[in-house]
Formats: sequence, structure tokens, C-alpha cells
Amino acid sequence: MMQPSTPIYQFSSTSPYSGLILKREDLSRVGSHKFRYFGPQMKKLATAGVKNIVISTTGNAGITASFLGKQLGIEVYCLMSDKGDLKKAAEIQRHGGKIFLSTRPVRFAKYLAKKLNCPLLKTSKDGAESYQTLGEEFMLQIPNLDIIVNFATSGTSSVGIMQAYQKAGKTLPELHIVQAGKSCSIAREFLKDEEVEWEEGVGLADTPRREEVLKWIMKSGGAAHYVAKEKYEKACKELKGLDLETSWEGAACFWVAKEEILKKNPGQTVGIVFSGRAWDENTKSDFKTVESVKEVDEMIRFL
Ligand SMILES: Cc1ncc(COP(=O)(O)O)c(C=O)c1O
Repeated sequence: MMQPSTPIYQFSSTSPYSGLILKREDLSRVGSHKFRYFGPQMKKLATAGVKNIVISTTGNAGITASFLGKQLGIEVYCLMSDKGDLKKAAEIQRHGGKIFLSTRPVRFAKYLAKKLNCPLLKTSKDGAESYQTLGEEFMLQIPNLDIIVNFATSGTSSVGIMQAYQKAGKTLPELHIVQAGKSCSIAREFLKDEEVEWEEGVGLADTPRREEVLKWIMKSGGAAHYVAKEKYEKACKELKGLDLETSWEGAACFWVAKEEILKKNPGQTVGIVFSGRAWDENTKSDFKTVESVKEVDEMIRFL
């Protein structure tokens, strides 16, 4: 039988959260669910002799790729928003990844990859299949699962989970997507502007997978939710008090599960993806920034 890569956590039967089950992707070696994509992908590239890769990241993809790059002999160049989480940037650097901050990380990642003539790894384009293992582990570890709550930036992991259920011929669990900050295009399809205060922050304003994710939500009878910073920060604190410290994305999912799902669906079994670790290394680092193609060209000259 397949060995799950990450454990689950179940609240006791007397807890108010007894229907909630946490899938602890944050306890994986690299601290997030991104290993499911970057592991097989980077091994393949290393075998093909690739020496450099570029990614645009909000953090966890960069941490994972840098960690794996060190082991596989691949140099990892990460472009990250200057408004992003600098603790994650420090973690990328700690693993030997090359990190550059920018107001336009997606654009400059594309340009840099072209200039270095190397792959630009993009989970928003491919990679959903690699997250099928997450769906398979849900089926194995929580066979009676009714609802899955997962944070969506690109929506790739959510698509992979649902593909796994479909492939196995199982009844689809309701897919509940959680978004926050700048990532909001899926939630916007479910919520009226007057009901929500859309916030700034990190993420993707839209994803090429929007329609695909919406299709899975509709097919499974789920929904999409948007969580304000104030709420997920409260959830982060509560989880810390329960010795379940995790990233804000996981905490946002926990908030949705307890406040918007469990209250309406008592008795249901709800799986929540704790997709990433709370990075708390307080490394003070100076990060290079790039804001023009000229600066990228300049940077390449010194590599
Ligand atoms: C901690 C964490 N959770 C969830 C996500 C969203 O994953 P996806 O892009 O597959 O929707 C990300 C990716 O940005 C992440 O880093």
C-alpha cells in the first residue's frame, strides 16, 4: 500500500472541531505541498542535464525548489514580489537559492529565463497531475471525507486533488476554495462586491486555472470563500495556542472550515490542507531588487 508523504491530525471527539481533519503538508521535509510538483519535475530536469531554473514565487515554491536544487546541482533563481514575505525570501537564500525582489516578478522571471536560456517552472501552467498524490493520500487516510478545504493561488493543487478522485472513480468531496489578499478571482465568482472588502497583499489577481477550478467546485457542489487578514491572523493565533502553528494560508482554511462550513454542516468530515509552514526564522538580509530589463541584464553579467 502507498505510504502517505505527510500525516493527518485529528481533533479529539470532545473538541468543538471534532469533524475537522488537518492534512499536514507543512510537516513535509520542505515545509509545504510544493514538493509534490518540484520533486519529480526537478529530478527529470537534473537527469536531462539542466543546470539553471527560474521561478516566480510567493515563497514556498522558491523554498522547495532551492532545497531540491542544492541536492540536484541545479541553480534556482527566484523572483518574488517586493511586498512578499521576507522570512520566506531569507529561507530561499538559506537553501542557496538566488532571490530577487521586484514589483513585477512574473514579468522579470520570464525575461530572466529567456536570457539564461533555461526552464521557467510554472505550476499555473502544468503540474496539476503531480498534486494527484495529495488526493490519493486523502482517499487513503480519510476514506469518509465529505469536504476538502484548500487555499488557492494558482488553483493547481486543488485541480490535482479532484483529478485523483475522478481517476479513482470515487464520489467527489465538495471542493471549498479559500482565497485571501491579492488572490481573489475564484472567490469573486461566488461573492458580490458589496459583501466583501477585497484586500491587497501577495498572490495572483487571476489564475489561468480559474475556469478549471470553478468547474471542479460546481461539479462537486462546493464553493469559494474569501478571508480577511484580521480573520486569518486570529485563526493563526488560535492554532498556535493549540500547538498547531501553520502558515496563514492554512489558518485561513481553518477559519473557513470552522466558521463557514462546520456551522452549516455539523457531522460532516472536513479535510483541511495545511499547505505550508509558518516561516519564523528572523534572518535580517538585504535582497537584490530588479525593476527593469537593464537591471536583469546587468545582474546576468555578474552571475
Ligand atoms: C502555503 C501555500 N498554500 C497554498 C498555496 C496555493 O497553491 P496553488 O497555487 O496550488 O493554488 C500556495 C502557493 O502559492 C502556498 O505557498
